[in-house]
Amino acid sequence: MKIPALVEIDPDFWMGRRVLVTGHTGFKGAWLSLWLQSLGADVAGLARNVPTRPSLYELAGVGAHMRELEADVRDRAAVLEALRDARPEVVMHLAAQPLVRRSLRDPAMTYDVNVMGTVNVLDAVRDAGEEVLAVVLVTSDKCYENSGGGSRRFVEDDPLGGADPYSSSKACAELVARAYQRSFFSGEGSPRLGTARAGNVIGGGDWGEDRLVPDAVRAVETGEPLSVRNPAAVRPWQHVLSPLAGYLRLAEALSHGGEAAGAWNFGPPEADVRPVSWIVRRLAELWGGDLRWRLDDAENPHEAGHLALDSSAAERVLGWHPTCSLQDALQLVVEWHRAHRRGEDMRSVSLSQIARI
Ligand SMILES: NC(=O)c1ccc[n+]([C@@H]2O[C@H](COP(=O)([O-])OP(=O)(O)OC[C@H]3O[C@@H](n4cnc5c(N)ncnc54)[C@H](O)[C@@H]3O)[C@@H](O)[C@H]2O)c1
Repeated sequence: MKIPALVEIDPDFWMGRRVLVTGHTGFKGAWLSLWLQSLGADVAGLARNVPTRPSLYELAGVGAHMRELEADVRDRAAVLEALRDARPEVVMHLAAQPLVRRSLRDPAMTYDVNVMGTVNVLDAVRDAGEEVLAVVLVTSDKCYENSGGGSRRFVEDDPLGGADPYSSSKACAELVARAYQRSFFSGEGSPRLGTARAGNVIGGGDWGEDRLVPDAVRAVETGEPLSVRNPAAVRPWQHVLSPLAGYLRLAEALSHGGEAAGAWNFGPPEADVRPVSWIVRRLAELWGGDLRWRLDDAENPHEAGHLALDSSAAERVLGWHPTCSLQDALQLVVEWHRAHRRGEDMRSVSLSQIARI
């Protein structure tokens, strides 16, 4: 499979660049750290734990190629110390409690990590970020007020909302970012702040709970049928490297001046906004007889029926484009997990997938 390279990342910008990634042990953070390592950046990471075992972080030896700090973003002093230690020029804030169902079980913790964690990171940049040029805050497509009706694609100026604590916490983080941007990060020589809203990401190495593709991977590994909730729910699926390319482009643009400050959508093209049932059927085809599935009739928490993003601003202004089609993305996932089952070196498999984008 040949994937056209549509996003131009500037290697000169990243070579030797000091970057702090929060949440570097997680699914997106590990892919981002690997990508930054492959670009020659000087990467530091802050995370509380390794959220899953197995994990891309461990299998690809991500931690061996960066400085790491085990800390909780709720701990103001620890975040400040990490920033002083890493002296970053770019901060990528991904650490979060990212699960809707867990947010329903533990809303207070979710707000604490996702909102106050964001405040602590921004405050540390304010206090000790003399060398910071750009801060990219990763929120979510779920930050929009979404009645679930219609098929309109959200644009960045649409109202924020969120019917569950996770979605609402990401909307709150957006509001925090807006206030910090206006109050502290708009003057001459100050760091520039952008927020990134992306959809449901898929990719090799995700073992997160309550997610469709990791559930499918577990079903293949155990031989148990995949239990499918909300088969009609339509989501903006995309390969993880697609929004990560957007975060890199956004950081580059922020570092060059204030025009890129603000919120950005990084969603897939319209053709890749698909129902859960479509993904399951396609995965079952790609995995041959290895993936069986059944509908889960249990009562599930409310989820919006339709969610799609309009990313034309990022395409026009940042020169970002979705990096690969959903078909190719699913194939990359299956290839990655087949390689893992064969016992291949997952650092080189992952780096070769990055090189193909
Ligand atoms: N995966 C998706 O489909 C998706 C979609 C939209 C937005 N996002 C956002 O992207 C980001 C990364 O998501 P992910 O899928 O990689 O999640 P993940 O669960 O795989 O990783 C989360 C990371 O955050 C760290 N973390 C969690 N709580 C922490 C705390 N209190 N202090 C310090 N570190 C903490 C974990 O150690 C881990 O490194 C999150 O902000 C999430 O909300 C993810």
